[in-house]
Amino acid sequence: MTTIDAETTAAPLEFAVTKNLNAATPARVAEVLENPGFGVVFTDHMVDICWSAKGGWHRPRVQPYGPIPLDPAASVLHYAQEIFEGIKAYRHADGSVHTFRPDRNAARMQASARRLALPELPTEYFIESLRQLVSIDERWVPSGADQSLYLRPFMFAKEAFLGVRAAQKVAYYVIASPAGAYFTGGVKPVRIWLSEDYARAGRGGTGKAKTGGNYASSLLPQAEAYAKGCDQVVFLNENRDVEELGGMNVVFVFKDGRVVTPESDSILEGITRDSLLQLAQDRGYTVEKRPISIHEWREGVASGDIVEVFACGTAAVVTPIGALVGTDFEEPQPLGELALSLREELTDIQYGRREDKHGWLVRLV
Ligand code: PLP
Ligand code: COI
Repeated sequence: MTTIDAETTAAPLEFAVTKNLNAATPARVAEVLENPGFGVVFTDHMVDICWSAKGGWHRPRVQPYGPIPLDPAASVLHYAQEIFEGIKAYRHADGSVHTFRPDRNAARMQASARRLALPELPTEYFIESLRQLVSIDERWVPSGADQSLYLRPFMFAKEAFLGVRAAQKVAYYVIASPAGAYFTGGVKPVRIWLSEDYARAGRGGTGKAKTGGNYASSLLPQAEAYAKGCDQVVFLNENRDVEELGGMNVVFVFKDGRVVTPESDSILEGITRDSLLQLAQDRGYTVEKRPISIHEWREGVASGDIVEVFACGTAAVVTPIGALVGTDFEEPQPLGELALSLREELTDIQYGRREDKHGWLVRLV
């Protein structure tokens, strides 16, 4: 048993630990870490905490990774009351393991919870849940270049009830998966399909929340993107302003030193994006969060005002956009230095190779 040392409002939680007696062999772990891919192999344990309307957060556990027993009437299976997060643990040269701005993921999960009528998990519980899992599964944190342990906290309605209302029984879990490059082929410019027929989210909808339904609605347009030879899809809103990709934010670099990213109430506010914009601002770039239309994007590239476009997110870090493809056009995008240089600066901080001036790292192990 270990105890959460809660500093603020949340009472300490005691995690009951059950070790996995069928844990992967050292040879198997070594084989996976050699070439982890993304999200395909999971570590030996998982963490879960229950919530009920009557009892609040309770029964925190670390247990062997495995299937979750779920009643067929569990409301998540019918009404998609679910949220998740994505965050990584990075191995430093001295063997220690750190995560990046977990307070921001915790706060975003709380915001997602409010929108999806789920309970808010206190920040201390969120961070402690990561620490519990990474501590017990530390051998799964890779140390190769650009490798990490991807952590996936998620929360869902498990009450068996078919009435449409917020569930009174909820489960929170964290699972972990060793990760290499998100896109096969590493950091190479990606081709983006402009979705004209489908939206990811709408005004007043759930676009700002990290909830499964947003991803479900992106799958068909994403399949269309693959069919057009593209890696990802970019969505517009009803005003034809650029929103984001299926799983990443988008950033435009202008010739005059402005770095612009869409501001909207229906996109996910990326922590990678926020961090990159801070680093760009530290370098003297002017950062703007404002609506940017597809017209401004295409005109800006055509006139040479836009000198670089890149996508960013936890899984894919920073990936230059090399082409924008629509139903009747295909436009190569200018490639510059900034995306890759910001990527290097950010990953240097995450892997402990450069001073963490903003105090973004939190040591887990
Ligand atoms: N937008 C979407 C739809 C995402 O799924 C993600 C990934 O988490 C992001 C943006 C980027 O967010 P972050 O940088 O916090 O990972
Ligand atoms: C992430 O970058 O963490 C994401 O959630 C993107 C995708 C894997 C859903």
